[in-house]
Amino acid sequence: MRLNYSILDDLELVDDTKSEILEKAHVHIHEKSRNIISQEERHKYHLMPEIGWMNDPNGFSVFNDEYHLFYQYYPYDVKWGPMYWGHAKSRDLIKWEYAPVALAPDKSYDISGCFSGSAIQVEDKHVLMYTGHVDNEQGVRQVQCIAVGDGTKYRKIKNNPVIATDEIPDESNISDFRDPKIWYKDGNFYSVMGSRHSDESGKVLMYKSANLIKWNYIGTLDFSRHEIGGMWECPDVFNLDNKDVFILSPQDYNEFGHRSVYSIGGLDYNTGKFTGNEYKQIDYGLDFYAPQTTISPDGRRIMVAWMQAWHRNIPSDKFGWVGAMILPRELKVINNKLYQYPVKELNKYRKNPIEYKNISLNGHKIFDGIEGKTIELKLNVEFKEGNEFSLKIMKSEGEETLIKYDKTKRLLIFDRSNSTKTIKGPNVIQTNIDLKDNTLSLNIFMDVYSVEIFAQNGEKTMTSTVYSELESTGIEFFSDSLISLDISKWDLDIK
Ligand code: FRU
Repeated sequence: MRLNYSILDDLELVDDTKSEILEKAHVHIHEKSRNIISQEERHKYHLMPEIGWMNDPNGFSVFNDEYHLFYQYYPYDVKWGPMYWGHAKSRDLIKWEYAPVALAPDKSYDISGCFSGSAIQVEDKHVLMYTGHVDNEQGVRQVQCIAVGDGTKYRKIKNNPVIATDEIPDESNISDFRDPKIWYKDGNFYSVMGSRHSDESGKVLMYKSANLIKWNYIGTLDFSRHEIGGMWECPDVFNLDNKDVFILSPQDYNEFGHRSVYSIGGLDYNTGKFTGNEYKQIDYGLDFYAPQTTISPDGRRIMVAWMQAWHRNIPSDKFGWVGAMILPRELKVINNKLYQYPVKELNKYRKNPIEYKNISLNGHKIFDGIEGKTIELKLNVEFKEGNEFSLKIMKSEGEETLIKYDKTKRLLIFDRSNSTKTIKGPNVIQTNIDLKDNTLSLNIFMDVYSVEIFAQNGEKTMTSTVYSELESTGIEFFSDSLISLDISKWDLDIK
């Protein structure tokens, strides 16, 4: 956007001291990523780190007609550590190219980590807003900071932090104040941040600024009231289909741990208050967290998220990497609910189509050509008499992963507990799905270590990792009584 003043003057304030910490990370990644054990044990069409640890998506934005996706990154180990911002760019949301690490924890106000945040194009500059995390003898302090770049190289500004701890409203905890999501509207910048109230409940704060440097607190969008998890992380607010959508990631939401939820309603820009319908989960799988959205040049609202869960063992660590992003998804609001669709850009990477139509299935069956681990599957299941339909994927002699629909219970169930590389913690998860015209429709995307299920045309999604063996490519169908089945399958190849 163009502003009625120029932030170029403020860029004089960019701190141009050379960062040895950043340089060292660039050298390390360059040297080590060439020595990765194998290219095989990597996702084929999901963004993942070159090497090391990845968590939340950050700074998802369009800058000079290219998509930019940054991420929480620790290049030195397969565990979380002092956070950097990894960086990738794409023209189509599917094929990503790594860019140099953008931010390193190298200033007194972010020395323990450059935590999550967002990005926006302002004139010809790419502006990042992130959380500076400091953890020392005095305790934990979190503040909000700005860096400015040209799409490749980013510099922190001298005014940092732009929101310091003394600018947090009373009753808000200074050690949990993070993950700013910035946007621009009618001459002002706005930013929302996750926070914790003094009574320990989660909340989201809203700030406003005319110049990116001086920020004023406006109000609190909402509180968890001890009902919707603990600390609220990674908020995002956007207008879609004439509604305001508020998404956030409450810690310790339920027995599966941290989850991401949304509410649809309206944001009052004067009070910062969000009034919306009941919070619902965004995704019902085992591995989905910290979603963030941006708007595409053609006006679509696109969401990405971390395809992993906190506090689990992650078997890909022995291949030198941990964490990946979900497939970017287009969002829509329909009847006050959020719908999700894989971005249409993926269609051009479909190869080798195979189709079966109106198949009568009763019992177990495998179909010629319906197999693989980097594929898209589309299924329509019409329940004639049957009550249970299932498919076993990522299957070989020793392992399998189950996707099952139970018509009487209206449940879609995902079960990875019979996959060989076991993950401690919950491995079975389920959600309610209603049939439409007695039919279940599933669109399933498998990559080497992941399964994303879009059920009933975007109404519900289930995203999970499955660290199965490379050779477990079998797929077997089952019905307990007569059903009619349509299957389409494509290999997904982005080379
Ligand atoms: C969410 C989160 C954020 C924080 C980041 C640190 O997964 O805890 O709140 O900024 O990860 O890596």
